[in-house]
Amino acid sequence: MSKPVEPARVSRKIGAIAESATLAVDAKAKALQAAGDRVIGFGAGEPDFPTPPHIVDAAVAAALDPKNHRYSPTSGLPELREAIAAKTARDSAYGVEAAQVLVTNGGKHAVYNTFQALLDPGDEVIVPAPYWTTYPEAIALADGKTVVLPTTEATGFQVTVDALDKARTKQTKALLFVSPSNPTGAVYSREAVEAIGRWAVAHGVWVITDEIYEHLTYDGHAFTSMPALVPELADTCVVLNGVAKTYAMTGWRVGWMIGPRDVISAATNLQSHSTSNVNNIAQRATLAALAGDLEAVAEMRDAFARRGKTMHAMLTRIPGVTCMEPQGAFYCFPNFEGVLNRMIGGVAVKDTLTLCEVLLDQAKVAIVPGEAFGAPGYARLSFALGDDDLGEGVERIATLLGG
Ligand SMILES: Cc1ncc(COP(=O)(O)O)c(C=O)c1O
Repeated sequence: MSKPVEPARVSRKIGAIAESATLAVDAKAKALQAAGDRVIGFGAGEPDFPTPPHIVDAAVAAALDPKNHRYSPTSGLPELREAIAAKTARDSAYGVEAAQVLVTNGGKHAVYNTFQALLDPGDEVIVPAPYWTTYPEAIALADGKTVVLPTTEATGFQVTVDALDKARTKQTKALLFVSPSNPTGAVYSREAVEAIGRWAVAHGVWVITDEIYEHLTYDGHAFTSMPALVPELADTCVVLNGVAKTYAMTGWRVGWMIGPRDVISAATNLQSHSTSNVNNIAQRATLAALAGDLEAVAEMRDAFARRGKTMHAMLTRIPGVTCMEPQGAFYCFPNFEGVLNRMIGGVAVKDTLTLCEVLLDQAKVAIVPGEAFGAPGYARLSFALGDDDLGEGVERIATLLGG
């Protein structure tokens, strides 16, 4: 007698989600560290600086105030939504009203809410690769379809209007745009941002623009906000942002989405049944962050600019490795194709997944394989870590690769 088929325990949709590769690499590195190994972690995308003290002080005061001990509006504290609208006008020259803002549990939650609010089954989203690992998973969770648009080092990891047009079909609902980019560090020029925005308007394609690295640009490269340059886009555009990278607040979990009122109201309804309001204390800390100046991020930017140059110079000295100089964010995204298909540390290394495993096991250096970003052959190294570790870590890579 055949055994009865057991009903699936985990749903197909959730069962298909891959663990975040960046968090997995970071977790493995931390586990090895806890076991006594001196692992150098280039995996996590977070500033190594503490959150500025005035922001922490605001949180301490907020924790002591009973008014913050209660539920608050799902969409965010009214004064914080106002502050986000004011900050967007200040930093992006994009005028929005507080009613167009939804405060979320980090930028990642804003990504999730946005796709849930916009996509119907089968809707296509054009996602330039290399892409941040979360986008395709969030699109799949909303029953959408990711249409990957590959880019390479040779074109500065940027898409063109021509390439976008080739990727467009009747099912195209949206384009995911991120500049400065995680993982490539590419920053689009003002002209390119405007051209892409105009293309989107002309074809009725929504743009979801992730502006989380807006303040981290180097060497004359500058961030520009697409809906500010192309105001006609406002009705079909969602801006994603948060405090994680600008104020060294990754652990506080505050982000936001800005969009047309109907989309924000739909996303707020969704959030009202999932997470409700974001932690009030973190929201008050965010208020202090946004009310202050950008001095702390300017200091971090100087340090990142220096470290990015050091890392880039060291990586490009390794025979077989090429790397675009980072223009923004805090990642180098070297091409390791020239060192594949040979024995490294006694292991036959055919791809960057294996290379990253060998680097972790033998050089005790954690980097994220390009496979996680839809770009095999490459890997991502964060340069948001101290100068000494950075130098030693890249040196260890060079030694293992025989550089
Ligand atoms: C491109 C991009 N967008 C959004 C986020 C989300 O950041 P958080 O959820 O920490 O606010 C990240 C974090 O790594 C990111 O790299």
